Amino acid sequence: MDPAELAPLMSRRTGPVQGRTRVPGDKSISHRALIVGALTVGETTIGGMLEGEDVLHTADVMRALGAQVERTGDQAWRVRGVGIGGFAQPARMLDFGNSGTGVRLAIGAVAGAPVTATFDGDASLRGRPMRRVLDPLEKMGARVVEVADSGRLPLTIQGAAHPIPIIYESPVASAQLKSAVLLAGLAAPGETTIVEAEATRDHTERLLKHFGARITSKAHGEHGRRIVLQGQPELEPANVVVPADPSSAAFPMVATLIVPGSELILDAVMTNPLRTGLLTTLREMGASIEQLEKRDDGEEVADLRVRASMLKGVDVPPERAPSMIDEYPILAVAASFAEGVTRMRGLKELRVKESDRLTATADMLRSNGVTVEIEGDDLIVQGKGRPAGGAEVKTHMDHRIAMAALVMGLGSENPVRIDNSGFIATSFPGFVELMRSIGADLA
Ligand code: S3P
Repeated sequence: MDPAELAPLMSRRTGPVQGRTRVPGDKSISHRALIVGALTVGETTIGGMLEGEDVLHTADVMRALGAQVERTGDQAWRVRGVGIGGFAQPARMLDFGNSGTGVRLAIGAVAGAPVTATFDGDASLRGRPMRRVLDPLEKMGARVVEVADSGRLPLTIQGAAHPIPIIYESPVASAQLKSAVLLAGLAAPGETTIVEAEATRDHTERLLKHFGARITSKAHGEHGRRIVLQGQPELEPANVVVPADPSSAAFPMVATLIVPGSELILDAVMTNPLRTGLLTTLREMGASIEQLEKRDDGEEVADLRVRASMLKGVDVPPERAPSMIDEYPILAVAASFAEGVTRMRGLKELRVKESDRLTATADMLRSNGVTVEIEGDDLIVQGKGRPAGGAEVKTHMDHRIAMAALVMGLGSENPVRIDNSGFIATSFPGFVELMRSIGADLA
């Protein structure tokens, strides 16, 4: 089904959320495993892969660039890659649907290969800035042949036959930008360096190391990192195990916290410290979230026991934003069930996500009876225990706004409707069924 065809959905107050479940695989790692696998000669296997629309687009694009990508079983995939710089000239436009991660990482990978490719996506993706990745990639020798509307999709780039290693100070806290530079840097001789003022998720670094690349990461300033990649490594095919996505786990987690009497165990959630800002914040708010068994498979993973909790408002510092950037809509929902004010600081980047998420989150809460303000780049929510609900929320082609609104309806006085549930499948296929299986009333 075309996700842009409206599929409304409603959630209403339920009895307790209960049971034990596992959310789908991590979106960031799934994209990266496909792309790094495609750049590696030999057979890479991926288990626990997220089979959401975003990642399926990346799989398809890797095929268009010459890699063999096959689904071998439930969440099990195999990639036979072409090697660094080995992409084939694609015979068609590369369509990324709704996925900013897919397109920005693939632009980086293509920038290091001597091919010309056109990248495009849906109306949401066409609205998002691509200049941030094009700037460093041009310095590395890629040529922007055509680009829409001062740095938007559709765009065509000609990859560099002889990429140049650079030292790049990232002007934005973006793991996608960092990853694009590193993936292009694989094909460059010598050291590619990227310096970030705020540390962002490091899955690309971990995965490249797992495939045998030499890459180091050192502290830089108070919150940043300096990452150095040795170019032209001999990547060795590897087996990748994708843990459950903490950004997806956030939705049943907050549902459990706000519905009285609830208790849920979430299995094998990734707890990479660069992704756990929401856990830190919810605990500061008084949430009962216990780490049960912990393990490490290249990424830290833990089973989490969550219990319904009385939450209080907190101040969320701006430096925490990169470690929970996708979690603000659902944190804002939790904040509207808390007692007192929650101030979330430094959310500029939320304006350029799948929607203008700062505005969309504020509108979602306000229409459901919550007092909320945007002050500069801060979002301020006045928690009053239980919101009224009762509104229809516009989701603006944004999966996380859709899921956050549905979670809100599980605890609010009146049902919450969303105009379209279609985009949920971009990151969380099976969301509705999973939520129903733990007691949520979605219809
Ligand atoms: C991601 C990075 C973040 C995040 C996105 C996934 C990644 O985007 O919002 O959902 O996998 O690198 P930015 O790099 O734009 O912050």
